[in-house]
Order: sequence, then structure tokens, then C-alpha cells
Amino acid sequence: MNLPFSNKNVLVTGGTRGIGKSISTAFLNAGANVYVTGRSQSVPNDVDSRATYHQLDFSCEGSVNRFLSNIIANMKFDILVNNAGINIINDLNDIKYADFCLVNTVNLKGPFLISSNVAANMSHGGRIVNVASIWSVITKKGRISYTSAKSGLLGLTRALAVDLADRGILVNAVSPGFVETELTKNSLSKSEMAALQLQVPMGRLAQPLEVAECVLFLCGPQNSFITGQNIVIDGGFSCV
Ligand code: NAI
Repeated sequence: MNLPFSNKNVLVTGGTRGIGKSISTAFLNAGANVYVTGRSQSVPNDVDSRATYHQLDFSCEGSVNRFLSNIIANMKFDILVNNAGINIINDLNDIKYADFCLVNTVNLKGPFLISSNVAANMSHGGRIVNVASIWSVITKKGRISYTSAKSGLLGLTRALAVDLADRGILVNAVSPGFVETELTKNSLSKSEMAALQLQVPMGRLAQPLEVAECVLFLCGPQNSFITGQNIVIDGGFSCV
């Protein structure tokens, strides 16, 4: 059967769980060869068995260098999804510089390093999608590190899109709002979840698959001219 992403090599950073896992599963179901990264040396139990796993920790220079020289330098990827990300919430009066740097390393420097190295071997028609956040376009208290990093990721998206346009490589970002991942479900009580849903005009959280479907659209043949853009997937949260 000829599936839409047959024979495509797709790299999803942080594709072991949550939104990244949903994106990697959607690509696998659409016929792609999917490579995912996570922080642990051994393959995490919940990684889709059809995917190839590699260790990558942006906070460890040795891990990043090994990944770039052993994997990226020897592989040709058609699609890159920079999904790995962290959020450390701090007010200005108690924020640690080390935390600010870590959030920027994982959410911004990591995607820059991976994108520039993957793009070096990417053919005409390649696609890059960066997973940002609603906190890249709006913000709230405690999001200094995260908003700085994710806003930077949107800047990186636009700049890469322009630099890679003459090679036919399209670069875009998606910005999810509140997403119902396992982590969200396990870390919020029923009443906290209900309060969160009330803030969203559509009255619910996004399903991870709703983010994945948008990523697949941006990477698929239906998208031939959208580049440098950010699609906010938040059920209207950032409009009110
Ligand atoms: P998660 O915490 O479930 O998974 C994050 C992934 O990133 C994991 O696979 C982890 O191994 C990887 N990762 C974490 N630290 C890393 C490091 N130092 N080096 C390399 N990889 C590392 O996250 P979730 O919730 O699925 O989020 C995925 C992306 O979506 C992130 O970029 C996040 O900022 C973004 N996002 C999530 C939202 C949500 O409601 N869950 C909302 C908006 C954006």
C-alpha cells in the first residue's frame, strides 16, 4: 500500500512520550521510517516498537556531539520535528540563571543545532517543524524562561525558512495551547482540569493527535508554499 509518507525518514526529537509520541505514531501510521530521541540510554518502555530510538540530551555536550557525529552526519532525513522541550516556571525574583539557560538550551539552542546539521544533508522538498507553545505568542506570570525560549524558536523558524527557501525546504512552527497528555492528566486534579477547560473557548483541552495532524499537514504534499509561519492550536485560548 502506498502511504503518504512511505520511504520518508522522519526525526522527532523527544518523540518518546506526550505530543512527540503522538507525532511519531502518526508518521509511522502514514508509512514513514521514524527515528525518535529521548534522554535515557536504554529505550524507554513506551516508545513505539516500529520507531528507532537514539539517546540525546541537550543539556549534555557529549550526548549532543555523539548524536550529531554518529547519527545526523550519517543519515539523510526528509522531515525534522523539533519537539523536545521543557518548562521551568519561576517568578523574576526567584529565577535561577542556570534554569533560564537550561530552558533556552533545550527549547532553542537544541533545535538550532539539530536543524542546521540535519538541513546540511536534506534534499529539495524537506520539511522542518518546530513545536513552540502559546507562551511564544502570549505569556503569563512565571514564564520568563519559557516565553523567551519559545519566542526565540519562532524567530529561528522564520530565519531558517528564509535561509532554506532556495533549497525548497519549508520550515514552520506549531504552538499548542493546553494539551491532554498523560503528564497533564496525571499532574492535574479533576477540579484543576475543569478550571483549565473553562478558560478555553472550545471548552476542552487539545488531544495530542490534533497537534500531530497539523504537523503532518505542514510536512505533507498539501503544503507547498507555507513557510516561516506559526500555527496556534489552542481552541481559541489566545483570542480572548
Ligand atoms: P513531555 O515532557 O511529555 O516530553 C518532552 C520530551 O522532550 C521527552 O521525550 C523528553 O525526553 C524530551 N526532553 C526533555 N528534556 C530534554 C533534554 N534535556 N534533551 C533532549 N530531550 C529532552 O512534553 P510534552 O508535553 O509532550 O511537550 C512536547 C513539546 O510540546 C515541548 O516542546 C513543549 O514545550 C511543547 N508544548 C507542550 C504543551 C502541553 O500542554 N503538553 C503545550 C504547548 C507546548
